[in-house]
Amino acid sequence: MTSAPAGWPLDHVGVAVPDLDAGARPWATLGLPAGPAETIPEQGVRVRFLGAGGARIELLAPLREDTPVGRFLASRGSGLHHLAFRVDDVAAELERLRSEGARLVDERPRTGHGGSLVAFLHPSWSGGVLVELVGPAPGGGA
Ligand code: CO
Repeated sequence: MTSAPAGWPLDHVGVAVPDLDAGARPWATLGLPAGPAETIPEQGVRVRFLGAGGARIELLAPLREDTPVGRFLASRGSGLHHLAFRVDDVAAELERLRSEGARLVDERPRTGHGGSLVAFLHPSWSGGVLVELVGPAPGGGA
């Protein structure tokens, strides 16, 4: 078991939208440039990162209605979806959090954007906020 971190840096804020192009427009007006869109089949989403340097915004649009983000949009509409923190080792942090009683969505890391590894913690554990851990893939990547 690893010790508790001093504090994970915020990596990005996830925002659910029905459409990545339309969803990026207000942020472009605020001066946040949009990166290329990327499809993540494992999560049933297309994503697009906005901003350069510092914490970024991740726009998420569902590939289908019967996906987590599709269900989120159907029940709540567009809006804040998750906070993502950058960690060195997603699997080790999951193990530590499990041992401390955290409720996990993902029992083990899965593939995220840009080849990263990600895992989600259940919002019922974290005050109603979906939390994502994001870390580098073994052997490199994001
Ligand atoms: Co994310």
